[in-house]
Amino acid sequence: MKDRYSFVAPYYDFLVKLVFGNDLKDLKTWFITNLNKKKILIIGGGDGMDYREFQSDLKGEYWELSEAMLSKAQKNLAQSKLTFHLGDFKSNPDNQFDEIWLHFVLDTFPDLELGLFLSELRKSMKPSSTIYLTDFFNPQSPFHRVIHATMLAYFRMLTKHQRTDVPDYEIAFQKAGFQKLDEIRKRKGWIRAQLWESAAN
Ligand SMILES: C[S@@+](CC[C@H](N)C(=O)[O-])C[C@H]1O[C@@H](n2cnc3c(N)ncnc32)[C@H](O)[C@@H]1O
Repeated sequence: MKDRYSFVAPYYDFLVKLVFGNDLKDLKTWFITNLNKKKILIIGGGDGMDYREFQSDLKGEYWELSEAMLSKAQKNLAQSKLTFHLGDFKSNPDNQFDEIWLHFVLDTFPDLELGLFLSELRKSMKPSSTIYLTDFFNPQSPFHRVIHATMLAYFRMLTKHQRTDVPDYEIAFQKAGFQKLDEIRKRKGWIRAQLWESAAN
């Protein structure tokens, strides 16, 4: 499979920090608790830069579609107890996780696939497990709209990103049987971190 992030991977973290400072890292780490007691599944984790400081407490699985990103993550998180995998994660009821991190990856799915993906993930979760999502939501100011459109154009050109919009995460998670536990917002709600759990709880 073609590595769509091979061109972006070497300077992805630099660009993110240039545009957003530490905002994305803050949101991706906001809800982290009791890490040393949890088995974590990270899908589309990118270069793993933002998890370096607490990597010794990280155990579980790290899945990436990009060989370039995965190779950077393996170096950045070499002291973690994560196992690293190239390709599509497949849910398996015999391999369950306490928390699943889905940061800035779900917008790579068309709506129908997103729903199926989230429903499938439930097989990898215990009743007490949570999904930790950080992502862009609809921009709330003209300035944010311009940056958002520029980013989309950039990713569409370099990574063959397919969507021209932001998925409706609230609807997608609710339809897949989840309820929201908590949320934190930055930049007027344009960027949010959310915790989701099974609605059956
Ligand atoms: C925009 S980057 C975000 C990286 C990282 N999560 C972050 O917060 O900076 C999206 C990443 O998701 C990966 N990706 C996209 N779809 C994926 C999938 N189905 N499974 C695993 N990785 C995926 C891409 O290769 C890319 O590294």
